[in-house]
Amino acid sequence: MKVVKTIDEVRAQVKAWRAQGLSVGLVPTMGYLHEGHASLIDASHKDNDRTVVSDFVNPMQFGPSEDLESYPRDLERDSALVKAHGGDLIFNPEPEEMYHEGFSSFVDMTILTEELCGLSRPIHFRGVCTVVSKLFNIVKPDRAYFGKKDAQQLAVIRHMVDDLNMDIEIVGCPIVREPDGLAKSSRNTYLNDEGRKAALVLSRAILAGADMVRNGEKSSKAVTDRMKQIIECEPLAKIDYVKLVDAKTMQQIPMIDRDALCAIAVYIGKTRLIDNFFTEDVK
Ligand code: PAF
Repeated sequence: MKVVKTIDEVRAQVKAWRAQGLSVGLVPTMGYLHEGHASLIDASHKDNDRTVVSDFVNPMQFGPSEDLESYPRDLERDSALVKAHGGDLIFNPEPEEMYHEGFSSFVDMTILTEELCGLSRPIHFRGVCTVVSKLFNIVKPDRAYFGKKDAQQLAVIRHMVDDLNMDIEIVGCPIVREPDGLAKSSRNTYLNDEGRKAALVLSRAILAGADMVRNGEKSSKAVTDRMKQIIECEPLAKIDYVKLVDAKTMQQIPMIDRDALCAIAVYIGKTRLIDNFFTEDVK
């Protein structure tokens, strides 16, 4: 397993693999890897001959008051995890390698990015689409792996690949949870003991909403009202959103009459956490 810093090194390695007729999977990450990322690497390792993991805290997807500086980083720990899960190459560029002086081209998307997280993080998806497009152009993978925890991101990337005719299969992998239900996230490290306990309100709300859908509830309002009630019982929690949307377009729907996504974002103190369920997964 190799760690490289430059685009040229990635290209040379991938070219050598291609010359041997090998397939390549890409797992884009911002590092500080956990079992959620490990499941993406496992999936890529199973489907492809070689797996590239990008490990890059992308400044372009952070707003001015967000946690770019404090975002956790640990390349040594990440390397051990990637190696243990069968990854072959880590691409860990400096920001200047990805965004040279005078960089001025962006990949932007309307509609899907204007709902859910896009409302409180207006520049976020432009940064995600731009960096993911660059990674796709650098690695040219056969397949790329994303977690369903970032459900809107997954929908946005699928849409971008379709709109821009990118010849890459996008694979969505299930949310990985702690034993007590909290969805794994690099941002969980921001929580103190009290916050960590309070954060369980997200998975409690998700379980309750999913149960209602499983039992046949069709009204989006009934489901989201119940979930809001649960979250509001936790004094440390502040709701950003609790919404039911069309799973493809990310637009709100009054009735659950198609494949839908129920997504929540909740502040526990200053830490913003997200969680969700797809209705197709609770049938
Ligand atoms: O999900 C993430 O960690 C990031 O948004 C991604 C896809 C690696 C782009 O920076």
